[in-house]
Amino acid sequence: MAAGAGKASGANIRNHPVIGGIEIDLDRTLTPEAFPRTPGTLSERSGVWRFAPLLPAIPEDKIISRWEGNTPLYWDERLSAYAGLTGGRFGVKHEGHNPTGSFKDRGMTVAVSHANATGASVIACASTGNTSASLASYAATAGIPAIVLIPEGKISVGKLAQTIAYGATVVQVDGDFDVALKLLRELVETENVYLANSVNPYRPEGQKTIVLELLAQLDWHVPDIIALPGGNLGNTTAFGKALTEAFQVGLIPKLPQVVTVQAEGAAPFYHYFQSGFDHYEPVQAETIATAIKIGNPASVERARETIQITNGIVTAVSDAEIMDAKAQIDRAGIGCEPASAASLAGIRKLVAAGEVSPDATVVGVVTGHVLKDTDAVARYHFADEPRHPLANRPISVPATLDALKKVIHERAEK
Ligand code: F0G
Repeated sequence: MAAGAGKASGANIRNHPVIGGIEIDLDRTLTPEAFPRTPGTLSERSGVWRFAPLLPAIPEDKIISRWEGNTPLYWDERLSAYAGLTGGRFGVKHEGHNPTGSFKDRGMTVAVSHANATGASVIACASTGNTSASLASYAATAGIPAIVLIPEGKISVGKLAQTIAYGATVVQVDGDFDVALKLLRELVETENVYLANSVNPYRPEGQKTIVLELLAQLDWHVPDIIALPGGNLGNTTAFGKALTEAFQVGLIPKLPQVVTVQAEGAAPFYHYFQSGFDHYEPVQAETIATAIKIGNPASVERARETIQITNGIVTAVSDAEIMDAKAQIDRAGIGCEPASAASLAGIRKLVAAGEVSPDATVVGVVTGHVLKDTDAVARYHFADEPRHPLANRPISVPATLDALKKVIHERAEK
């Protein structure tokens, strides 16, 4: 419950529910000056630790940071138009600019620092690929062995390559992500292994800083909507915690709506939302967006609180809608992996359905880098059936000047 709830009403103590997890002292007022980037310190290097006043305390000499966060916020007219935001606009908070190419690094710096401070001897996670790459990198930085469970054959080659390269022990499980996570949660009950999945409350603490940083970039002006893809729902939970805490300490005057977008074939949270959060049922997940191919999200109940408290929306989009939105983000020069494009695809769908105003200011969180899944890029651009509208195939020419000139002239005529 809110730290300030029920207390005598000090001028700055608000009375609003906050998302649970690690308890942050909210019985105070914070201003943007609480988060300076002090030259030469961790707060200058890390877009996570800069927000230390709203994070759990960890001794500075135990912190494992790879200069994560500090990601760009782009505004793009083409993407605004694609979303149907004729009077509003669509901004991209690009979490693919983190050291291992996804937002997971923000949670991992906090979890691995905590593991380091508590003397963990082994850190483990189950993953659809990004958490594993991030854990492998941070654990290597800390010098702590890492074990990752991945669903065999179901994560992108790039993410597997990263995880191997950073030196984690990779265990391929004959099953999907849900099976792998369940196995690992059973294992940590009896074995002395530090669990780094987002069910570990230190992970969402770091991921809160996606929201804090984007609010800081907006000079603490609150957008109408923050949209993000939903898989295991750790991030949806973290966003609710960040927003309710920022409100509680007086950094923002209101909450934006959180819009979580799932892939149609992996949408148990969407169906739960559709039932008025009355009936929840896990599904057998299937989607091209392997990062969010999750049928039984671990944080479903805390994510529900985020949606309820922010008056948010959960929606679902098809693989085709995801890949078209991804092609738009890529073509705008920004680039992302398939799951990340669910943010834009979802807003486009909600604007078309009249559930989001075309005048809304929306920040879509793009969760992973375009190089995370190059197979998906190739499949989209090389496909014959159907031939996608933005398909951009390389042109092969004989090594002659004439052939090259022909291509250049054809291109100029287009
Ligand atoms: N986008 C990307 C690129 C992801 O890797 C994930 C989750 C999500 C969105 C969804 O976030 O789980 O907090 O709802 N990837 C996890 C992993 C499951 O193992 O890398 P969520």
